[in-house]
Amino acid sequence: MAPKTSSQEYHIQRTATFVEEKLKGAESGHDWWHILRVWNNTKLILKEEDADAYVCELTALLHDIADSKFHGGDESIGPKVAGEFLASIDVDADTIEHVQNIILNMSFKASLGEVHFHSKELEVVQDADRLDAIGAIGIARAFNYGGFKNREIHNPEIPFIENLSKEAYKSTTAPTINHFYEKLLVLKDKMNTPTAKKIAAGRHAHMELFLQQFYGEWDGDL
Ligand code: ADP
Ligand code: NI
Repeated sequence: MAPKTSSQEYHIQRTATFVEEKLKGAESGHDWWHILRVWNNTKLILKEEDADAYVCELTALLHDIADSKFHGGDESIGPKVAGEFLASIDVDADTIEHVQNIILNMSFKASLGEVHFHSKELEVVQDADRLDAIGAIGIARAFNYGGFKNREIHNPEIPFIENLSKEAYKSTTAPTINHFYEKLLVLKDKMNTPTAKKIAAGRHAHMELFLQQFYGEWDGDL
């Protein structure tokens, strides 16, 4: 894939500044630091995968710009805000449409339903986002989320549910450890690109080790 032009680099920097400003102080699961990590994961994947870096990086930066959760579940709000910003800095219409299509289709929840759009760039950014939900960062994010929701860290009497439905995933109040089995440990097999699969394997092993230690300490065995 051709290297980025200087005007493309400029658009990416302008976008980063816009997103950082907008997501400063956002809830910590989707704050600027999450975006920065997903952007970095994207660049890491692009070292080995052949995809349009311009589209991938713009999308990584804009993928959580407006959360439908705070807009009555309206999934079109993110693509709309992203598109308006990109148009304001004169990004071309094809790129804007591609970025919007990816944002609309890449969430874990959307991937449980019907797939409407597909591209190599979607694969890369979706992998980059999913990588931020596993490994050491994934563990920290899960317990942070659980604490925010006032969930127990673990309760051996509450079994985890395999293949949670879309509705159940959204409304579960189970302890945070259950989230590992319901989502985090299955993510490595959902990676699209071989490069992300390799990165995910390392991060997955880290979570397995954590769980082993966790149960050892829980039972007073270690
Ligand atoms: P995404 O950004 O992938 O759409 P979510 O908004 O569902 O993810 O979640 C944001 C972060 O919070 C992720 O790291 C996710 O693992 C974590 N999270 C979501 N639901 C739960 C849950 N029920 N228990 C613990 N962590 C959760
Ligand atoms: Ni995200």
